[in-house]
Amino acid sequence: MDPQLVVVSNRGPVTFEETPTGERRYRRGVGGLVTALSGALRGRGGVWIASAMSDADRAIAAASETTEVDVGGAHIAVRFVGVEEDTYRAYYDDFSNRVLWFVHHYLWDPPRTPTFTDSDADAWDAYTDVNRRFAETTALKAPESGVALIQDYHLALVPHLLRKMRPDLAIGHFWHIPFAQPDYLGLLPDPWSRGVVEGLLGADVLGFQTDRWLQNFLSCVRSLEGLRARDRTISAGGHRTRANAYPIGVNPDHLAEIAGEPAVKRARTELKRWLGDRALVLRVDRTELSKNILRGLLAFELMLERRPELRRRVVHLALLQPSRRSVPEYREYIDQCTREAERINARFGPETIRLEISDDFPRSLAAYSLYDVLVVNPIFDGMNLVAREGPCLNRRGGVLVLSRNAGAAIELAPAALIVNPVDVDRTARAISDALDMPEAERHERARRLRRLARGRSPARWLDAQLRDLEKARGRG
Ligand code: G6P
Repeated sequence: MDPQLVVVSNRGPVTFEETPTGERRYRRGVGGLVTALSGALRGRGGVWIASAMSDADRAIAAASETTEVDVGGAHIAVRFVGVEEDTYRAYYDDFSNRVLWFVHHYLWDPPRTPTFTDSDADAWDAYTDVNRRFAETTALKAPESGVALIQDYHLALVPHLLRKMRPDLAIGHFWHIPFAQPDYLGLLPDPWSRGVVEGLLGADVLGFQTDRWLQNFLSCVRSLEGLRARDRTISAGGHRTRANAYPIGVNPDHLAEIAGEPAVKRARTELKRWLGDRALVLRVDRTELSKNILRGLLAFELMLERRPELRRRVVHLALLQPSRRSVPEYREYIDQCTREAERINARFGPETIRLEISDDFPRSLAAYSLYDVLVVNPIFDGMNLVAREGPCLNRRGGVLVLSRNAGAAIELAPAALIVNPVDVDRTARAISDALDMPEAERHERARRLRRLARGRSPARWLDAQLRDLEKARGRG
């Protein structure tokens, strides 16, 4: 295990549960961040500080224990931060996922939302409070002159707080999602937007998925009085932060390994039987507003409306992992998606669209190998790993229809069909073009996609940040 490294994120690598006999067991945490980071820590290890999510996690946190676990070959010592239920809800649901997530993915409807009131002010207080607790736990656990890698929008204030407590540490922060432009970020009350930007500037190295989000962040910095950004170096309060883009990737060998497991083979057989000789238009996402599931369904409907000969010859499978069900906007959105899918099925025949809401990674991997068209059409997305995982595992010369607002589009554009995600007409045409594409072109594009999608790995992503942190430390 790397004794110098401390990773800090909201969702941890594992969650514990207690069996009826009182034994403690753990299962792997969900989401892109956990996949990427545990991949990056393979063969390296480190301490990982995360929120306690279950009762068993909270018991471990209360006892101030550090527990050792193995996640996909990464040897990790986990330390949980326990937060009371109400405070956690206000920090996670209300501020992180309803305010910060919405602003950075442009999910509001400005004539109606947001309307900030007292309860949002309480949410900001809870966010500040939980960030302080994370900073305190990190200050306690990090070794002398160690490296702290803080993750994502849940913990934007930690770098600044931690620097004050432990100036000896090298502090990195990686922002996994898009970063909004100044006018849109300016919808937030000033203390929040300034608080988030200045909080991040406590880091020595600040990472974004792509140059586009990095440039947005730099514009936000320049829009705030008293902060200066020259090139990618920002000076604030006598401290310098170096910002950079570190695009994250997938580990194709690891993916191939899991794709060979019996559960994936079984799911593949089942899906093939269901598909028969129909073509498959696939999407794989969390149940998430920013993923633009609804417009994806409407685009599929429009395509079938225009091409009656394809009805019953093409199916749309949407594999959706449940996420953030405690946020009302999420529940409403997914209910709306379900209703639309039912309406379209009533129009064009049962199971024209199959919408499955379940946490079934083997099934997603199986479906990757079988799609003819993969639709990845987020409104905005930091990177999007589905756009990389799919092409790594597909065996049918599948075509990728990709939103120009996904970070992955920067590299994958030459081999994908790029769409404006709100343009349902163009998305419908792209799906239609993909289905018509001559065999040779499909395979040529799929080969290029696979090469591009394999070009980055979580390990390289982490190494690049550690190198820059080392340089930053050298600069003093
Ligand atoms: C986004 C975030 C990740 C997070 C994932 C799942 O991709 O950038 O940090 O892992 O969503 O979100 P959750 O709220 O379930 O942890």
